[in-house]
Amino acid sequence: MGSFDYYKNPYPLLVLVFLSLLHITYGARTLFSLYQPPPMSLTYHNGELLESEIKISILWYGKFSPAQKSIIVDFLQSLNSPSKIWSRNTPTVTKWWQTIQTYLTKAGKKETRLVLSNQFTDENCSIGKTLKKSQISELAHSKKGELILVLTAQDVAVEGFCMGNCGYHGSGQGKRSVFIWVGNSAIQCPGQCAWPFHQPIYGPQAKPLGAPNGDVGADGMVVNIASLLAGVVTNPYGNGYYQGPAEAPLEAASACAGLYGKKAYPGYAGELLVDSITGASYNAHGTNGRKYLLPGPFDPNKSACSTMV
Ligand SMILES: *[C@@H]1O[C@H](CO)[C@@H](O)[C@H](O)[C@H]1NC(C)=O
Ligand SMILES: *[C@@H]1O[C@H](CO)[C@@H](O)[C@H](O)[C@H]1NC(C)=O
Repeated sequence: MGSFDYYKNPYPLLVLVFLSLLHITYGARTLFSLYQPPPMSLTYHNGELLESEIKISILWYGKFSPAQKSIIVDFLQSLNSPSKIWSRNTPTVTKWWQTIQTYLTKAGKKETRLVLSNQFTDENCSIGKTLKKSQISELAHSKKGELILVLTAQDVAVEGFCMGNCGYHGSGQGKRSVFIWVGNSAIQCPGQCAWPFHQPIYGPQAKPLGAPNGDVGADGMVVNIASLLAGVVTNPYGNGYYQGPAEAPLEAASACAGLYGKKAYPGYAGELLVDSITGASYNAHGTNGRKYLLPGPFDPNKSACSTMV
Protein backbone atom coordinates (compact mmCIF):
# COMPACT_ATOMS: atom_id res chain seq x y z
CA MET A 1 0.00 0.00 0.00
CA GLY A 2 1.47 3.35 -1.02
CA SER A 3 1.21 6.55 0.92
CA PHE A 4 -1.21 9.12 -0.36
CA ASP A 5 -2.11 12.70 0.29
CA TYR A 6 -5.69 13.34 1.16
CA TYR A 7 -5.69 16.85 -0.28
CA LYS A 8 -3.98 16.05 -3.57
CA ASN A 9 -6.20 13.09 -4.31
CA PRO A 10 -8.66 13.92 -7.10
CA TYR A 11 -11.28 11.63 -5.57
CA PRO A 12 -11.67 12.86 -2.00
CA LEU A 13 -14.99 11.07 -1.58
CA LEU A 14 -13.45 7.77 -2.55
CA VAL A 15 -10.65 8.40 -0.13
CA LEU A 16 -13.17 9.14 2.57
CA VAL A 17 -14.88 5.82 1.93
CA PHE A 18 -11.48 4.15 1.84
CA LEU A 19 -10.53 5.78 5.11
CA SER A 20 -13.74 4.85 6.82
CA LEU A 21 -13.31 1.27 5.65
CA LEU A 22 -9.66 0.82 6.28
CA HIS A 23 -8.33 3.42 8.59
CA ILE A 24 -10.16 2.41 11.67
CA THR A 25 -8.05 0.00 13.55
CA TYR A 26 -9.86 -1.92 16.18
CA GLY A 27 -8.33 -2.37 19.59
CA ALA A 28 -9.78 -5.82 19.61
CA ARG A 29 -8.88 -7.93 22.58
CA THR A 30 -8.23 -11.51 21.71
CA LEU A 31 -8.18 -13.06 25.11
CA PHE A 32 -9.52 -16.57 24.95
CA SER A 33 -10.84 -18.53 22.02
CA LEU A 34 -9.56 -15.96 19.57
CA TYR A 35 -6.07 -16.04 21.01
CA GLN A 36 -3.34 -16.26 18.39
CA PRO A 37 0.37 -16.49 18.98
CA PRO A 38 1.98 -13.08 18.44
CA PRO A 39 3.61 -12.43 15.05
CA MET A 40 7.31 -12.94 14.38
CA SER A 41 7.75 -9.29 13.45
CA LEU A 42 5.81 -6.15 12.66
CA THR A 43 6.57 -4.97 9.14
CA TYR A 44 7.13 -1.29 8.41
CA HIS A 45 5.15 -0.27 5.33
CA ASN A 46 7.11 2.96 4.87
CA GLY A 47 4.28 5.34 5.66
CA GLU A 48 4.26 8.34 7.94
CA LEU A 49 4.48 7.90 11.70
CA LEU A 50 3.54 10.40 14.40
CA GLU A 51 6.92 11.91 15.22
CA SER A 52 8.17 14.89 17.23
CA GLU A 53 5.76 16.90 19.32
CA ILE A 54 2.12 15.87 18.96
CA LYS A 55 -0.58 17.93 20.63
CA ILE A 56 -3.29 15.81 22.23
CA SER A 57 -6.81 16.96 22.99
CA ILE A 58 -9.25 14.99 25.12
CA LEU A 59 -13.00 15.11 24.62
CA TRP A 60 -14.75 13.80 27.74
CA TYR A 61 -18.11 12.71 26.34
CA GLY A 62 -20.58 12.07 29.14
CA LYS A 63 -19.99 12.06 32.86
CA PHE A 64 -16.51 11.38 34.23
CA SER A 65 -15.61 12.04 37.86
CA PRO A 66 -12.62 14.28 38.64
CA ALA A 67 -10.89 11.15 40.03
CA GLN A 68 -11.40 9.26 36.76
CA LYS A 69 -10.10 12.20 34.74
CA SER A 70 -6.97 12.48 36.82
CA ILE A 71 -6.19 8.74 36.46
CA ILE A 72 -6.19 9.17 32.67
CA VAL A 73 -4.50 12.59 32.55
CA ASP A 74 -1.74 11.41 34.91
CA PHE A 75 -1.19 8.42 32.65
CA LEU A 76 -0.68 10.67 29.61
CA GLN A 77 1.70 12.85 31.59
CA SER A 78 3.64 9.81 32.74
CA LEU A 79 4.64 8.94 29.17
CA ASN A 80 7.32 11.59 28.92
CA SER A 81 8.12 12.22 32.55
CA PRO A 82 11.79 12.60 33.47
CA SER A 83 13.13 9.17 34.36
CA LYS A 84 15.72 10.62 36.75
CA ILE A 85 13.41 10.22 39.72
CA TRP A 86 13.31 6.44 39.27
CA SER A 87 16.01 3.92 39.92
CA ARG A 88 17.24 2.22 36.77
CA ASN A 89 15.38 -1.03 37.33
CA THR A 90 12.02 0.46 38.28
CA PRO A 91 9.40 -0.29 35.63
CA THR A 92 7.83 3.00 34.56
CA VAL A 93 5.31 4.26 32.04
CA THR A 94 8.17 6.27 30.51
CA LYS A 95 10.18 3.11 29.89
CA TRP A 96 7.16 1.43 28.33
CA TRP A 97 6.83 4.41 25.99
CA GLN A 98 10.55 4.21 25.17
CA THR A 99 10.01 0.72 23.75
CA ILE A 100 7.40 2.19 21.43
CA GLN A 101 9.85 4.94 20.46
CA THR A 102 12.22 2.28 19.13
CA TYR A 103 9.82 1.87 16.18
CA LEU A 104 10.27 5.55 15.37
CA THR A 105 14.05 5.57 15.60
CA LYS A 106 14.32 2.36 13.56
CA ALA A 107 12.35 4.12 10.80
CA GLY A 108 14.69 7.10 10.94
CA LYS A 109 12.07 9.33 12.59
CA LYS A 110 12.26 11.57 15.61
CA GLU A 111 10.90 10.29 18.91
CA THR A 112 7.30 11.20 19.68
CA ARG A 113 6.51 13.61 22.46
CA LEU A 114 2.84 13.71 23.37
CA VAL A 115 1.72 16.99 24.91
CA LEU A 116 -1.73 17.30 26.44
CA SER A 117 -2.86 20.68 25.16
CA ASN A 118 -6.65 20.79 25.48
CA GLN A 119 -9.54 19.19 27.30
CA PHE A 120 -13.16 19.54 26.23
CA THR A 121 -16.23 18.28 28.06
CA ASP A 122 -19.61 17.36 26.64
CA GLU A 123 -21.15 16.20 29.88
CA ASN A 124 -24.71 16.23 28.63
CA CYS A 125 -23.93 14.16 25.53
CA SER A 126 -24.93 16.71 22.86
CA ILE A 127 -25.46 14.10 20.13
CA GLY A 128 -27.00 11.41 22.28
CA LYS A 129 -25.99 8.35 24.25
CA THR A 130 -26.09 5.87 21.38
CA LEU A 131 -23.38 6.64 18.87
CA LYS A 132 -22.52 5.26 15.45
CA LYS A 133 -18.88 5.00 14.39
CA SER A 134 -19.42 7.92 12.00
CA GLN A 135 -20.51 10.05 14.97
CA ILE A 136 -17.32 9.20 16.85
CA SER A 137 -15.38 10.53 13.82
CA GLU A 138 -17.63 13.60 13.80
CA LEU A 139 -16.96 14.27 17.47
CA ALA A 140 -13.21 13.83 16.92
CA HIS A 141 -13.09 16.17 13.96
CA SER A 142 -15.13 18.84 15.74
CA LYS A 143 -12.16 19.48 18.04
CA LYS A 144 -8.79 21.03 17.31
CA GLY A 145 -5.68 18.99 17.94
CA GLU A 146 -3.27 16.67 16.17
CA LEU A 147 -4.41 13.64 18.15
CA ILE A 148 -7.92 13.66 19.59
CA LEU A 149 -8.89 11.26 22.36
CA VAL A 150 -12.65 10.73 22.36
CA LEU A 151 -13.52 9.09 25.68
CA THR A 152 -17.11 8.00 26.25
CA ALA A 153 -18.68 7.56 29.69
CA GLN A 154 -20.02 4.28 31.05
CA ASP A 155 -23.63 4.93 30.00
CA VAL A 156 -22.79 5.77 26.38
CA ALA A 157 -23.31 2.99 23.85
CA VAL A 158 -21.05 2.99 20.80
CA GLU A 159 -21.49 0.89 17.67
CA GLY A 160 -19.25 -2.16 18.01
CA PHE A 161 -18.36 -1.47 21.67
CA CYS A 162 -18.16 -4.73 23.61
CA MET A 163 -18.67 -6.68 20.38
CA GLY A 164 -15.02 -7.61 20.17
CA ASN A 165 -13.61 -4.12 20.54
CA CYS A 166 -12.95 -1.71 23.38
CA GLY A 167 -11.68 1.19 21.30
CA TYR A 168 -10.04 2.01 17.99
CA HIS A 169 -7.95 4.62 16.25
CA GLY A 170 -8.65 6.30 12.96
CA SER A 171 -7.73 9.18 10.71
CA GLY A 172 -9.41 10.98 7.91
CA GLN A 173 -9.37 14.74 8.09
CA GLY A 174 -6.08 16.23 7.06
CA LYS A 175 -2.66 14.74 7.35
CA ARG A 176 -1.91 15.38 10.97
CA SER A 177 -5.27 14.73 12.48
CA VAL A 178 -5.88 11.32 13.95
CA PHE A 179 -8.09 10.13 16.76
CA ILE A 180 -8.55 7.40 19.31
CA TRP A 181 -11.86 6.36 20.79
CA VAL A 182 -12.08 4.38 24.02
CA GLY A 183 -15.23 3.73 26.07
CA ASN A 184 -15.66 3.19 29.81
CA SER A 185 -16.77 -0.44 29.95
CA ALA A 186 -17.58 -0.53 33.72
CA ILE A 187 -21.28 -1.36 33.33
CA GLN A 188 -21.36 -2.58 29.72
CA CYS A 189 -18.63 -5.22 29.42
CA PRO A 190 -15.93 -4.99 32.12
CA GLY A 191 -15.19 -8.71 31.70
CA GLN A 192 -14.08 -7.95 28.17
CA CYS A 193 -12.67 -4.41 28.21
CA ALA A 194 -11.55 -4.07 31.83
CA TRP A 195 -10.11 -7.56 32.20
CA PRO A 196 -8.14 -8.51 34.34
CA PHE A 197 -9.80 -6.10 36.81
CA HIS A 198 -13.11 -7.88 36.35
CA GLN A 199 -14.17 -11.49 36.00
CA PRO A 200 -13.91 -12.47 32.31
CA ILE A 201 -17.18 -13.08 30.46
CA TYR A 202 -16.12 -16.61 29.67
CA GLY A 203 -13.06 -18.81 29.96
CA PRO A 204 -11.30 -19.71 33.21
CA GLN A 205 -12.84 -17.72 36.07
CA ALA A 206 -9.72 -16.52 37.86
CA LYS A 207 -10.23 -13.99 40.66
CA PRO A 208 -10.17 -10.43 39.25
CA LEU A 209 -7.07 -8.38 40.04
CA GLY A 210 -7.24 -5.16 42.03
CA ALA A 211 -7.32 -2.12 39.72
CA PRO A 212 -4.19 -0.02 40.34
CA ASN A 213 -6.13 3.21 40.87
CA GLY A 214 -9.21 1.62 42.40
CA ASP A 215 -11.47 2.28 39.41
CA VAL A 216 -12.22 -0.72 37.19
CA GLY A 217 -13.64 1.46 34.40
CA ALA A 218 -10.88 4.10 34.29
CA ASP A 219 -8.02 1.63 34.87
CA GLY A 220 -9.46 -0.52 32.08
CA MET A 221 -9.59 2.54 29.83
CA VAL A 222 -5.89 3.20 30.49
CA VAL A 223 -5.02 -0.31 29.24
CA ASN A 224 -6.89 0.36 26.01
CA ILE A 225 -5.64 3.95 25.62
CA ALA A 226 -2.07 2.74 26.07
CA SER A 227 -2.48 0.03 23.45
CA LEU A 228 -4.10 2.43 20.98
CA LEU A 229 -1.53 5.19 21.57
CA ALA A 230 1.20 2.72 20.68
CA GLY A 231 -0.80 1.75 17.59
CA VAL A 232 -1.65 5.24 16.42
CA VAL A 233 1.89 6.56 16.78
CA THR A 234 3.44 3.64 14.86
CA ASN A 235 0.60 3.13 12.35
CA PRO A 236 -1.41 6.37 12.13
CA TYR A 237 -2.55 6.12 8.49
CA GLY A 238 -2.61 2.37 7.94
CA ASN A 239 0.81 2.22 6.29
CA GLY A 240 3.17 2.20 9.26
CA TYR A 241 4.11 -0.79 11.40
CA TYR A 242 1.65 -3.68 11.44
CA GLN A 243 1.27 -7.32 10.62
CA GLY A 244 -1.72 -9.06 9.10
CA PRO A 245 -4.53 -7.54 7.05
CA ALA A 246 -4.48 -3.71 6.88
CA GLU A 247 -8.14 -3.49 7.95
CA ALA A 248 -7.55 -5.58 11.09
CA PRO A 249 -3.85 -5.25 11.76
CA LEU A 250 -1.80 -6.37 14.73
CA GLU A 251 0.08 -3.33 15.99
CA ALA A 252 2.79 -2.45 18.51
CA ALA A 253 0.71 -3.25 21.60
CA SER A 254 -2.42 -4.96 20.26
CA ALA A 255 -0.14 -7.76 19.01
CA CYS A 256 0.41 -8.66 22.65
CA ALA A 257 -3.15 -8.12 23.98
CA GLY A 258 -3.83 -9.70 27.34
CA LEU A 259 -0.15 -10.10 28.17
CA TYR A 260 0.98 -8.04 31.16
CA GLY A 261 3.65 -9.96 32.99
CA LYS A 262 5.97 -12.93 32.69
CA LYS A 263 4.42 -16.37 32.19
CA ALA A 264 1.14 -14.86 30.94
CA TYR A 265 -1.17 -17.07 28.90
CA PRO A 266 -4.70 -16.58 27.58
CA GLY A 267 -6.82 -15.88 30.65
CA TYR A 268 -3.85 -15.27 32.96
CA ALA A 269 -2.33 -11.77 33.03
CA GLY A 270 1.09 -12.97 34.18
CA GLU A 271 3.26 -12.27 37.22
CA LEU A 272 2.73 -8.67 38.35
CA LEU A 273 3.75 -6.31 41.12
CA VAL A 274 1.25 -6.03 43.95
CA ASP A 275 0.69 -2.92 46.04
CA SER A 276 1.14 -4.03 49.64
CA ILE A 277 -1.50 -1.62 50.96
CA THR A 278 -4.30 -1.78 48.40
CA GLY A 279 -3.56 -5.25 46.99
CA ALA A 280 -3.83 -3.80 43.48
CA SER A 281 -1.81 -5.30 40.62
CA TYR A 282 0.36 -3.17 38.36
CA ASN A 283 3.44 -3.26 36.17
CA ALA A 284 4.46 0.38 35.77
CA HIS A 285 4.92 3.45 37.93
CA GLY A 286 3.67 6.84 36.75
CA THR A 287 3.77 10.44 37.91
CA ASN A 288 1.99 11.63 41.06
CA GLY A 289 2.59 8.30 42.79
CA ARG A 290 0.29 6.49 40.38
CA LYS A 291 0.56 2.88 39.30
CA TYR A 292 -0.69 1.43 36.06
CA LEU A 293 -1.14 -1.87 34.27
CA LEU A 294 0.13 -1.64 30.69
CA PRO A 295 -0.03 -4.19 27.88
CA GLY A 296 3.32 -5.81 27.10
CA PRO A 297 4.51 -4.07 23.95
CA PHE A 298 5.95 -5.96 20.99
CA ASP A 299 9.67 -5.22 21.26
CA PRO A 300 10.99 -4.55 17.74
CA ASN A 301 14.58 -5.39 18.79
CA LYS A 302 13.71 -8.82 20.09
CA SER A 303 10.78 -9.46 17.76
CA ALA A 304 8.79 -10.72 20.72
CA CYS A 305 6.24 -9.48 23.21
CA SER A 306 8.04 -7.92 26.14
CA THR A 307 6.82 -7.38 29.67
CA MET A 308 7.58 -4.55 32.06
CA VAL A 309 8.05 -6.86 35.04
C1 LIG B 1 16.64 -1.26 20.63
O1 LIG B 1 17.97 -1.13 20.16
C2 LIG B 1 18.40 0.23 20.06
C3 LIG B 1 19.79 0.23 19.41
O2 LIG B 1 20.65 -0.69 20.06
C4 LIG B 1 18.40 0.86 21.44
O3 LIG B 1 18.80 2.21 21.36
C5 LIG B 1 16.97 0.82 21.99
O4 LIG B 1 16.93 1.34 23.31
C6 LIG B 1 16.48 -0.62 22.01
N1 LIG B 1 15.10 -0.63 22.40
C7 LIG B 1 14.63 -1.47 23.33
C8 LIG B 1 13.16 -1.38 23.61
O5 LIG B 1 15.29 -2.28 23.93
C1 LIG C 1 -26.17 19.68 31.69
O1 LIG C 1 -27.45 19.39 32.23
C2 LIG C 1 -27.62 19.81 33.55
C3 LIG C 1 -28.97 19.28 34.05
O2 LIG C 1 -29.96 19.45 33.09
C4 LIG C 1 -27.54 21.35 33.61
O3 LIG C 1 -27.69 21.78 34.93
C5 LIG C 1 -26.17 21.77 33.09
O4 LIG C 1 -26.07 23.16 33.04
C6 LIG C 1 -25.91 21.19 31.70
N1 LIG C 1 -24.53 21.45 31.33
C7 LIG C 1 -24.20 22.02 30.18
C8 LIG C 1 -22.74 22.24 29.97
O5 LIG C 1 -25.01 22.34 29.34
